[in-house]
Amino acid sequence: AMAEKDGFPHYMAKEIHEQGAVLRSTLKGRLTEQGVDLSEELDWSGEFVRSLKQVHLVACGTSYYAALVAERVLEQWTDLDVRVDIASEYRYRQVRVTPQTLAVFVSQSGETADTLAAQRKVRSLGARCLAVTNVRGATLAREVHDRLLLKAGPEIGVAATKTFMGQMATLYLLALKLGWDRGTLNPAEAERLAAALIQLPYQVERTLEREEQVRRVAEKYSKYDNFLYLGRGISFPVALEGALKLKEISYVHAEAYAAGEMKHGPIALLEPDVPVMTVMPRDSLYEKSLSNLQEAKARRSPLVAVATDGDDLVTRHVDDVLRIPWSDEVFSPFLSVIPLQQFAYHVARFRGREIDQPRNLAKSVTVE
Ligand code: G6P
Repeated sequence: AMAEKDGFPHYMAKEIHEQGAVLRSTLKGRLTEQGVDLSEELDWSGEFVRSLKQVHLVACGTSYYAALVAERVLEQWTDLDVRVDIASEYRYRQVRVTPQTLAVFVSQSGETADTLAAQRKVRSLGARCLAVTNVRGATLAREVHDRLLLKAGPEIGVAATKTFMGQMATLYLLALKLGWDRGTLNPAEAERLAAALIQLPYQVERTLEREEQVRRVAEKYSKYDNFLYLGRGISFPVALEGALKLKEISYVHAEAYAAGEMKHGPIALLEPDVPVMTVMPRDSLYEKSLSNLQEAKARRSPLVAVATDGDDLVTRHVDDVLRIPWSDEVFSPFLSVIPLQQFAYHVARFRGREIDQPRNLAKSVTVE
């Protein structure tokens, strides 16, 4: 079994480590400095792409958080109206779709019952349906009009890690294609973004190498029973995913909030035994996150920040920092999620948890 895990003690550790390779494999053949080429998978005419009006992103669990990241990217790179829904909600709502609606179903397994049902519903109402999945022959992939594969390789750990990376990369490619083909991104900007995406696997690998800093922080915080995760903008879904990872494999209560919403409730929970993890890369909302962090500090919560290399200001305000390399704001989720995955993994180890087979959870939920 150790051999299948390439010498790692758990599949989750192996899969976290594979994330640079996963990104490379997802981008391979689909992206050059000249543009995005998805023509082998999507036979969309320019006319069809320009006719689109809305994008609906529908998913469950970690896939839903990848969709929340993609929502923000699609808003920036295209002029489309974007909405994101949890599949179990979407399937029972009065959703309006037309042939100008691209409905994107994000599902690692392609077998999640709620996601399948949501797809069947809006497909029958006339939406154009696209699956983003890791499994070529999955039910979802067979039923939709179009499909994009993650090419992440099989994921064994119940807690999704590398497929989150693959989902984000695939959805960024889709957003870049839509922005490029609709002319909402100017060519120079599109080329700059494509070049930055090509560099991402290296930055992911540089981030992965820093596991020891995360392990030490995880040891220090492994005794706490309640955590608040905060993030703003594109870092909000990353905070959600970080909290989910901690709940899933260490069984520690973790709640994630949009940092600006903390004052509307969760601040009442803060006290010295509730650590606050803030995802705050040096971006356009950094100052806002810093002021939220000071509100938490005033309640004497232990503070941990996921922050950018060279950001010395943050060290004056928090107890511990998990460092990530600098990146363009829009790409930071690929880097900032890594220390949070590693943090959850190491807290779970310090607590003696199962990790690859957490209690009560299934890799794919094929019943409603
Ligand atoms: C289960 C898994 C999660 C996963 C979710 C959605 O809850 O434990 O890791 O994110 O299902 O799965 P899907 O295959 O649709 O992405």
